[in-house]
Parts: sequence; C-alpha cells; structure tokens
Amino acid sequence: MAKLACVILLKLKGFKMYIIKIIRNIFKLLSKEQRSKMLLLQVFFVFSAVVQVVGVASIAPFIGIISNPQTIHTNTFLKLLHDFLGAESDQQFIIIFAVLSVSMIFFSNAVSALTLWLLLKFSISIGSELQYKLYSSFLNREYLFHKSTNYTQQISAISQEAPRFVYMVLQPYLLLCSNAFIAIIILLGLLFLSPLIALASAFIIGGAYTITYGLIKKSLVHHGKILTEKYEALQSILSESFIGIKDIKLNTLENKYSNIYKNTNFSGLNSSAFIVLAGDIPKFAIEAISFGAILIFAIILLMTKGNDGSVVAILSIYAIAGYKLLPTMQQIYKSAASMSANGGVAAELKEQLHEYIVKADEVNVQPLQTIKKIELAGICYKYPTANETVLNGINVEFNKGQLNTIAGPSGSGKSTLADIMLGLLQPISGDINIDGERLTKNTLTNYQHSIGYVPQHIFILDDTVIGNVAFGVESANIDIEKVERALIQANAMEFVEKLPLKLNTNLGQDGKLLSGGQRQRIGIARALYRNNKILILDEPTSALDIESEFELMSLLDKLKHDVLTVVISHRPAAIKLSDKICILESGQMLAQGSYSELMRSNKHFQELMEKGFMG
Ligand SMILES: Nc1ncnc2c1ncn2[C@@H]1O[C@H](COP(=O)(O)OP(=O)(O)OP(=O)(O)O)[C@@H](O)[C@H]1O
Ligand SMILES: [Mg+2]
Repeated sequence: MAKLACVILLKLKGFKMYIIKIIRNIFKLLSKEQRSKMLLLQVFFVFSAVVQVVGVASIAPFIGIISNPQTIHTNTFLKLLHDFLGAESDQQFIIIFAVLSVSMIFFSNAVSALTLWLLLKFSISIGSELQYKLYSSFLNREYLFHKSTNYTQQISAISQEAPRFVYMVLQPYLLLCSNAFIAIIILLGLLFLSPLIALASAFIIGGAYTITYGLIKKSLVHHGKILTEKYEALQSILSESFIGIKDIKLNTLENKYSNIYKNTNFSGLNSSAFIVLAGDIPKFAIEAISFGAILIFAIILLMTKGNDGSVVAILSIYAIAGYKLLPTMQQIYKSAASMSANGGVAAELKEQLHEYIVKADEVNVQPLQTIKKIELAGICYKYPTANETVLNGINVEFNKGQLNTIAGPSGSGKSTLADIMLGLLQPISGDINIDGERLTKNTLTNYQHSIGYVPQHIFILDDTVIGNVAFGVESANIDIEKVERALIQANAMEFVEKLPLKLNTNLGQDGKLLSGGQRQRIGIARALYRNNKILILDEPTSALDIESEFELMSLLDKLKHDVLTVVISHRPAAIKLSDKICILESGQMLAQGSYSELMRSNKHFQELMEKGFMG
C-alpha cells in the first residue's frame, strides 16, 4: 500500500514538473509586454470566477425559499433583504428574488462570454506575433543558415507549430487558469459551508482526474511526438512534390506520391484520436461517481434529518456546486492533457526563436557611385559542416571594361566564390578590395546595394513584368521608364512586346509563362534596373541554346563598359567570348588570362577546351 502511494506521489511530482516546464516555455516565448497583458488577463479571470460562482450560487437560496418559504423570516440574510426590498408578501419577495437571481445569471454568463472572448483574442494575437517573429528572425539569419538548412522546417514552424502552440498549448493554459480560479472559489465556498464535504469533493473529483492524468501523461507525450513527426513529413512531401513536379510527371509517380501522402496523413490518426479521447473520457466516469456521491449524501441526510425543507436547500447547494465544479475540473484536466500532448512545440519554438535577431532598417544606404576594380586577395573559405576548405588562397582581380569569366569543373567552388564576392559568405581569411579599399562590415551594405546578381535559376514573382524588373520596389515608386530601359538593355523588350498585356502581363507563379532564355533576360533587366555597378552572373547560359547564349554574351560584352561584369560559366562558347578567364579547380585558381593567352601557354586549358570543357 505504502509502495503504491509512493509510486502515485512520484508520478504526481513528475507530471507537475512537466506541466511547470511547459508553462515556463510558454512564458519564455512571450515578450515583456505580453507577459504583463497575461497577468492582467489573470486578474480579470479572478473577477470573472467570482461573478460566475455568485451567479450560479444565487439559485440555491431561491430553491430553499420555494421549498420552505418560512426561511424568509427565519434566515437573517433573507430577512434583511426582505425588509430592504420592502416586499408586500412572501410571494412578491420570491418573484423579486427570482428576477434578481436570473439577472445575476445573465450577468455572470455575459462576463463568462467576455472572458472567453478576451482569452481567444489574446491567444490569437500572441500567435500572429509569434509567426511574425519566427518569419522575421528566419529572414534575418545569416545566409549560411539558409544555405545549409531545409526550408520546409521553417515553413512548418510558422504555418503549423505556431498555430498548434496557440490552440493546443496557450489557449488550454489560459482555460486552465480561469477554471482553476473558479474551482478554488467553489471549494472555498464549500469549505465554509462544510469542510468535510469540501475536502471530500476535492479529493474525489480532483483525485480521480489527477490519477487519470498521471496514468496517461506518458502516452499523451508519445502521441504528441508522433503528430509532430507526421506534420513535418507532410510538409516535406508537399513541398518536394510541387518543386519536383516535372520528375513526378515524367516518371508517372503521381499515384505513388498521392499514396505516400495518404498513408502519412492517416498514420497519425490513432494519435489524434487518442489525444481527443483522453481529454474527454474520464468525464463520463467522474460525472457518474460525483452524482452517485450526491445521491448517497441525500439518502444519509433524509435518514438523519427527515424530510423537511432544509434537506432540499442543503442538497441544492451541493448539486449546484457539483454542476459548476464538474465541468470546471473537466476543463482543467482537458487543458493539462492538451498541454502535455502538444507542449513539445513550445520547446521547439523557443529553440527556433533562440537567436531572435531583427536588424534595424538600414537608413543611410548609399550605393557606390562607380566601381572599377574588385580584387580578391588570399581568399580562403570552409563551410562549417565540411572538413576541408573549398577555397584556398584565391588571388584575382576583375576590372570594369573587360568581360570576366570564372570557369571550372562542377564542385570546384565557383558559386561559393560568387557568394563571397556578393558579401553573403564571410571568408575565413583574405580580403576583398573595392577600388583599392578593403571591404569591411561598415561598407558591406553600401557595396551589396551596388551589386546586381543573376543566378542560374531566376526567381520570378507571381507579378507583372514591371513588378518583376523593379523587384522589391513599392509600386508607387516604380520608374516605368527605367524598367523599359533595363528591358531594352537586357534584350528583353522584344519578347515582352509580344506578351498579351506587354509590360503589365502577369508572368505567373515562378515564371511559368517564360522560356529559360527569357527568364534569364528578365533577371538581367532586374539587375540593371537598380543602376548596379557590378553584375555577377552564375551559369547564366546553361539553360540557353547556342544562339541565345551568343546573344547573351554579346549583350554582356556591351554592358561591360558600364558595369563591372563577372560571369561564372563552364561553356566553351561563353569562355571564348570572355576577355579574362580565371580557371578554378578544387578551390584553387589554376590560371588566369585571355583566351588566346591561355590557349598558348596553358596545356591543361587547351585540353579542357578540346574536350568541350568541364561539363
Ligand atoms: N552549404 C554547404 N555546406 C557544405 N558544403 C557545401 C555547401 N555548399 C556547397 N558545398 C560544397 O562546396 C563545394 C563547392 O561548391 P560550389 O557550389 O561552390 O561549386 P560550383 O563550382 O559552383 O559547382 P557547380 O558548377 O556544380 O555549380 C562542393 O564540394 C559542395 O559540396
Ligand atoms: Mg555553382
């Protein structure tokens, strides 16, 4: 027996600690202001609890008066009220009392609705704020973080875990608090009337719920984890399948993916059902036990006191207390169950927000007026997760007026070098000098605002041609003439003119209406719109046919006089049209020079060109 009591006590201690840990995590996710608001809300909960208990409790004396009208004159409180109201007869007093009692119930229910409204509004506003914070802190994190993590995790945190936290953890916690106040007030009232009955009710109802909770807590946590895994898997399946739709179609994998989705979606069904059921099931048993206890108590009263009016009055008080106490305890238990099953998300979100940093808006950005030369001096780089360096002491200089190309086999570090030149990755050693001045943290933003970058896969917004070229500029501030000029410079005007609504044609989600070459030209027009002084293009011709490739390189050949241009490419045609070629292999700059120089002096380059280059 003693052993059983110890086990129960240990379990109770365990779950108390677990719930406290979850509550701590809830508080850690809130800002100072939100915590103060939550405290105010708790004060309101206390007021609401008092009003609600008084509301239902007012029925008890009413039942007492009806069953024994004599009490109006024998009970001190009722006598005082009778004299105060100046009722002419007992009947009139009963009617006035009924009206007062109903008004009280109306008022208490209105307060109860207001409490719920405030609770929902508060928790939903916390959810929106949390989603904003997550999104903003993800965007503000280092580029390396984005380059090295799977973005479905971040989308899942914002779109699934944050709402789960609000509806399954925060709201239940607030409901738990508001109901705990009601339960405490009812139990205090009962304690005043009859300490024995108060303790017995607290022991029977509270004990039954506590033991049930202690027994199923582990399963709740377990099923909660299954649901978290399920949501993450669903998110990956969805994003993978839409990104890889081409491969799915070509390999007729539609049904396979649909089935994977279906199976994953069905997999957590038992866990979802268990969590909901676990919240509701003890209700039925505990209701039956409690009403059974009231009936037994009624029989005892009848047997000891006989059937006079006071028995009905006493019983009505306990029945009403039970009527309010049972759903209150049920809600406390249900909230604790929901918090236990889903509390893990609070910890995960806390982890995600661990490095919550939002940079202040850059107020004084001044893009550089001219850039004639970029010099990379002894650049080394190592990805934190890799064992070896990807770039080893790169020394090279790029000048305006010449078409510069970085060439090299796949995996040699070309894109990493481009990311370093873009200021997105910080080299572990070495300097970048712009017109002889070392690039520092202070000058980085101005420098970055002077760069136009054209990636291999141009990201097209679901917006018009204008919106795509003037990327990120408020529509009221877009200079249409500049958009047209950029499109002409990028050789894009010809095909834009043929679009149904010309400049105002919507290019569709991710530019579904465009060919590879057209996307590239929109990308270049975007880079030119901002009057950038440097243009860096990563594999711009890999999606193009020979003719478009030639056109693009000729275009860059013209632009090189206005903008310092660096192209990354391993295509022979692109390389032949360049003025300066830098060959990168295994993170090292093997050779640099013009095409004819390299063909003359570098055997390795000769061989590569004969092979059709690095492929
Ligand atoms: N986020 C990362 N974490 C760890 N290693 C990385 C990361 N990104 C790239 N690498 C590694 O760095 C090396 C250079 O990659 P990089 O993308 O710069 O090559 P590349 O020359 O541009 O190749 P490609 O021609 O195929 O685009 C590769 O071995 C790659 O595996
Ligand atoms: Mg690359």
